[in-house]
Amino acid sequence: MFKRTIWPGTLPAAALFLASTAFTATAEGELNIYSSRHYDTDERLYSDFEEAEGVTINRIEGNADELIARMVAEGANSPADVLITVDTSRLHRAKVAGILQSVDSGVLEERIPGHLQDSDNQWFGFSQRARIIFYDKEQVNEPPQTYADLADPKFEGMVCIRSSTNTYNQTLLASIVTHQGEDAARDWAQGVVDNMARPPQGGDTDQLRGLVSGECAIAVSNTYYFARALRREVDGVSPDIDRIGWVFPDQGGNGAHINLSGAGVAANAPHRDVAVKFLEYLSGESAQTYFSAGNDEYPAVEGAPLADSVAALGDFQMDEIDLSEVAENIATAQKIFNEVGWP
Ligand code: FE2
Repeated sequence: MFKRTIWPGTLPAAALFLASTAFTATAEGELNIYSSRHYDTDERLYSDFEEAEGVTINRIEGNADELIARMVAEGANSPADVLITVDTSRLHRAKVAGILQSVDSGVLEERIPGHLQDSDNQWFGFSQRARIIFYDKEQVNEPPQTYADLADPKFEGMVCIRSSTNTYNQTLLASIVTHQGEDAARDWAQGVVDNMARPPQGGDTDQLRGLVSGECAIAVSNTYYFARALRREVDGVSPDIDRIGWVFPDQGGNGAHINLSGAGVAANAPHRDVAVKFLEYLSGESAQTYFSAGNDEYPAVEGAPLADSVAALGDFQMDEIDLSEVAENIATAQKIFNEVGWP
């Protein structure tokens, strides 16, 4: 039996706690997952594990920060076994909040590349997405080739990118801080603000829509939003997708910036052994294949097959900087965003 609880962000904490009373925290044969992955196609990930292991997965879905706050509030009594979330910054926030535990797993050590793991093994990346440059072929002949180019005055008034509250942008800027230092990162952020085509609005797909509508000449988005529009109809993007070109930035340099979807075992997991098994399952062939086939991401494990929509983007060099190190610079990135007035 699969129990799924959608947790709207507007409920007060007390009501949220009640919503979880259906969980029998210590029952055998169960696994309680708190997930902020926001993709309908993830059902397969869970049902395959349930079938293979004969366990029932209880899932609470919600916004990552709310799930983290909830686990903090539940403390030692938390029924959570596993936290799944997107973006390095949130995995790091969960670690700093003390709600994850170190996992010593030879399977994970072997399969997941070191730069996609927390330095204390409190979280592991299971799928990757590149944050890259897209452009309107009708407006731009020579698109930016690097992240630095996005700040070049020759692209003034042309760049669409979402707000600084977005974790993908926070991690991107934190990676620039890690590579080049705080001052260079501030100059870059200022340059991008100066080049904005409009005040930041919407999600990554809205930046791609801006290219199709002609409002943006250049846009920044994670790869999977574009690949999804290749695979199936996405309003405002797919019908004119031929108009959109893309560039994997910093090829020959650091490589394209990567962010993660990842998971960790909860500090007070009632079903710790099953939780570790679930993480190992996420690194296995079927789950790794799924991340690409189901959500157009890049598997974390080398050699796992890519969906056609993802392979269509072509080969590229990824930035293999240690994301655990990048996560340490998120606070600096947020400070810089405020200093330069990136909305
Ligand atoms: Fe996303």
